[in-house]
Amino acid sequence: MKLLITRPIDDLVLAQAEERFETTYRAGEVPMSAAEVTAALGEYDAILPTLGDAFTAAAIEAAGKPRCKVIGNFGVGYNHIDVAAAAKAGIAVSNTPDVLTDATADIAWTLILSTCRRAGEGERQLRAGEWKGFDPKGMLGTHVTGKTLGVIGMGRIGQAIAKRGHFGFDMPVVYFNRSAKELPFDARRIEDMHELLGVADIVVVAVPGGAETVRLIDRAAIAAMRKDTIFVNISRGEVVEEEALIDALEANAIGGAGLDVYEKEPYVPARLTALENCVLLPHLGSATVETRRAMAQMALDNIIAFAEGRAMPQRVN
Ligand code: GLV
Repeated sequence: MKLLITRPIDDLVLAQAEERFETTYRAGEVPMSAAEVTAALGEYDAILPTLGDAFTAAAIEAAGKPRCKVIGNFGVGYNHIDVAAAAKAGIAVSNTPDVLTDATADIAWTLILSTCRRAGEGERQLRAGEWKGFDPKGMLGTHVTGKTLGVIGMGRIGQAIAKRGHFGFDMPVVYFNRSAKELPFDARRIEDMHELLGVADIVVVAVPGGAETVRLIDRAAIAAMRKDTIFVNISRGEVVEEEALIDALEANAIGGAGLDVYEKEPYVPARLTALENCVLLPHLGSATVETRRAMAQMALDNIIAFAEGRAMPQRVN
């Protein structure tokens, strides 16, 4: 079987792929264009792609009856793959849930703490040689312990974020989710998202990407936040109306924002990078050595399962 791996992955996993498949390793870090996807679907039996690779409905349909029968996506989010179009073309798709839950919850907390405590701003000041010394009134931030945490999307990652808030920071937790969840800690479900946005001191978005959540946090939702709300997004950029968020940050209409994802990644608007009241990370949610290795292994294991005629453990379509 011919396997295409579309971006650099862990060497140990790559070695396993090379043992089992005629493996092509696509060089570079730029995502695949739709035309490249169509060509690859005709040329390879299996593809191990990742975020941004344009497996759109049009790209898949253009491949007709493709040679490719399996896509083992590297990433839990697969909003870059039209899984219905893939199913129609006879292509099985899998993702990498669970293995990145803790790393992504940790990055949410990195953003919560660094936004509340103005860590980005402070570090920039120090590196610029502008720090004048300890100042009883200097760079005061938002106290985190005991504040109300609002989680939008109480899936695996939302729960891991909430758990840290509850057990580590003594936070009352409120959440917005399609269904009520049985949770091993106290958390109150609020059915009206705008109400939650007014109640929580710190709001974290952890919903999956895709058509159902595009601009869930729109201008009206941002307006429902308070002047002191700290807003964090670790899900997908398109879940938030970025321009409305920037308007709110520029006007100091909310307290601050911590972002790991952007509407048009890797493009980040200059209006955003010009602001001091936000902390901006380059989509680091799952970026630990251990997690990225586990993700690569899971993606490959799903492809191997398919190749051996077994059910793919993490199949999504
Ligand atoms: C990262 O954002 C992922 O979806 O795995």
